[in-house]
Amino acid sequence: MLIVSGSSCRYLAVNVSKLTNTPIVPNECKVFPDGEIYVRINGDVSGKPVAIFQSFALKPNDYLMEFILLSDLVRDLGASKIIAIIPYFAYTRQDDRFKPGEALSIKTIASIFKSLNIDSIVTIDMHLHRVSSPSELFKIPVYNLSAMGLLMDYVMLSFKPESPIVIGPDEESRQWAETAARRANVEYDVLEKTRYNSYRVVVKPKRLDIDGRDVIVVDDIISTGGTMVEAVKALRSCGARRIITACTHPILVDKALSKILEAGAEAVIGTDTVPSPVSYVSVKSVIAEFLTRMFQ
Ligand code: R5P
Repeated sequence: MLIVSGSSCRYLAVNVSKLTNTPIVPNECKVFPDGEIYVRINGDVSGKPVAIFQSFALKPNDYLMEFILLSDLVRDLGASKIIAIIPYFAYTRQDDRFKPGEALSIKTIASIFKSLNIDSIVTIDMHLHRVSSPSELFKIPVYNLSAMGLLMDYVMLSFKPESPIVIGPDEESRQWAETAARRANVEYDVLEKTRYNSYRVVVKPKRLDIDGRDVIVVDDIISTGGTMVEAVKALRSCGARRIITACTHPILVDKALSKILEAGAEAVIGTDTVPSPVSYVSVKSVIAEFLTRMFQ
């Protein structure tokens, strides 16, 4: 197998390449003065399976376009198989028409992927709520790996929480709260959230047995931080002692990090699916182990 990386996650591609002993094919990705994207592969990929790394965070539209160009190019140059490694998969939260006339973005992205003739997709903690089988939607195998175990190991080791409980900020996060709690063999529960717009969310305090306990709040994504801020406030009002927040994808726009810390969280922990000041946990081993098991 060979690895080709888009410009969003070269660090991760290099780390996975080292762990799996897979060569990286050099490439060039740049933006023309008018904003158009240019890509070039400087190596031979013909007849070989190629894993293309690209995370769709921070500049989702540019990175998506770069990925489209790279994967079509790799196919044109004769790769025998394309495995798309998309650590953060954007456009999955718009999985319903919440208001009449809205685009079903996840469905549109799935159609684009189908047209690219990709063989499989590997991603981490994809935001799956109303779509239960991404493989059915994308019509190719989609392997949705999780970083929740690694995040939980990191939190337990670094913070040594007392009488810990894992809390998800909303019903959608139940799956991640459950996985994280299972890893450390602790209890979990979820809060109730209502979202009014991209920034305004309300999380209801609820009867929880957390008085004097250390709480680990887990979610897939922290974007504006609105969800975490509200969750931290609700948990404090319920008597939580220490609150440590963790997510797989620390997108952290609009001063999200300082807002969450100011709300009373002791720390924000994320992974390197998105480069950020809190990407303390690397998903390289999760991806490397999967690639070794499946493709080597
Ligand atoms: C949505 O349900 C997700 O799981 C996250 O809770 C959400 O994307 C976080 O966004 P924000 O940080 O902007 O509240």
